[in-house]
Amino acid sequence: MKILVVGGAGYIGSHVVADLCKKGHNVFVFDNLYSGSVKNIDKKANFIKGDINSENDLEKLFKIKFDIVFHFAALKAAGESMENPGIYSKNNINGTINLLNAMVSHDVKKIIFSSSAAVYGYPEYLPIDEKHPIKPINYYGYTKKVIEEILNWYGKLKGIKYAALRYFNAAGYDINGRITKREKTTANLLPIVLECAIGLRDRINIFGDDYDTPDGTGIRDYIHVNDLSIAHLKAMEYLNDNNNNLVLNLGTGYGYSVLEVVKMVGKITGKDIKYSIVGRREGDPAKLIAVSNLAKKTINWEAKYSDLETILSSMWELYSKIKV
Ligand SMILES: NC(=O)c1ccc[n+]([C@@H]2O[C@H](COP(=O)([O-])OP(=O)(O)OC[C@H]3O[C@@H](n4cnc5c(N)ncnc54)[C@H](O)[C@@H]3O)[C@@H](O)[C@H]2O)c1
Repeated sequence: MKILVVGGAGYIGSHVVADLCKKGHNVFVFDNLYSGSVKNIDKKANFIKGDINSENDLEKLFKIKFDIVFHFAALKAAGESMENPGIYSKNNINGTINLLNAMVSHDVKKIIFSSSAAVYGYPEYLPIDEKHPIKPINYYGYTKKVIEEILNWYGKLKGIKYAALRYFNAAGYDINGRITKREKTTANLLPIVLECAIGLRDRINIFGDDYDTPDGTGIRDYIHVNDLSIAHLKAMEYLNDNNNNLVLNLGTGYGYSVLEVVKMVGKITGKDIKYSIVGRREGDPAKLIAVSNLAKKTINWEAKYSDLETILSSMWELYSKIKV
């Protein structure tokens, strides 16, 4: 198939591109390289530099007749989205509307969209299933909610078929070592702990150790990026073979605490990870865990590589080669 991967130079997109190329698809990566790296794009894929905010770029791009679009391009820092909602409106909402309009104009009918657990907001019950109320507590999550709603309308009005995949905490690097450049600006826990292990940071701050969890630190559901990638390929098959849309959680159903992460990094790397316990952050729940039974039922997907040791070992493979 001829596949457009928007944001395919980024962290999750580049893993999916590698798997699509391995399956023999004709892959086109479209990315403005704001946070992505050309070096992570599989050599078999075609790369086109461009921006979803430019209707001109999209008009040129859609001269190619694509069978399906994977859409990863977005800004994703929840904190930043609260300080600067304008750039999140522009990139995540307007940019996606531009992309959808280009699809409609050029008769491309299928899209797989990177949504997020951030659409749910503060958990009203656990584990979170897809019926959980959608009440984002940050503007980033709101942009994902808006796009899910727009996809629903474009589905009804313009015959667009879509899969909105709500990822929990994406983590790890390709277990086959195909991705060589790390994410540089992430504020996520696991990369920060690995940065301590290689000496890029002195210590990590743990935001609260008095939560109602076994060791008092927050628990999150980490999903290996290879597992995410497999889900995307399965969602594509589903859209090819069915007339339904998909809205799916992608998580594991279990979680790990901050201290478990710190200890496991120590074990894998042999380094002493220093940490300080500081106050809780606003809006951080004790636990965030997904249930992905619907993904199991509809696309026969469940996490295979998402135990903490596999996730962190795959990250250490990449981080241990970084020269500090
Ligand atoms: N990483 C996570 O834990 C996580 C969790 C839930 C959802 N998501 C979503 O998954 C998607 C991919 O996330 P990621 O972690 O790979 O992020 P990333 O920043 O590594 O990748 C995003 C890619 O999109 C590109 N891009 C951004 N704006 C663009 C624009 N206007 N035009 C063209 N390209 C543009 C960037 O250069 C980058 O290569 C995002 O939509 C994100 O919101 C990520």
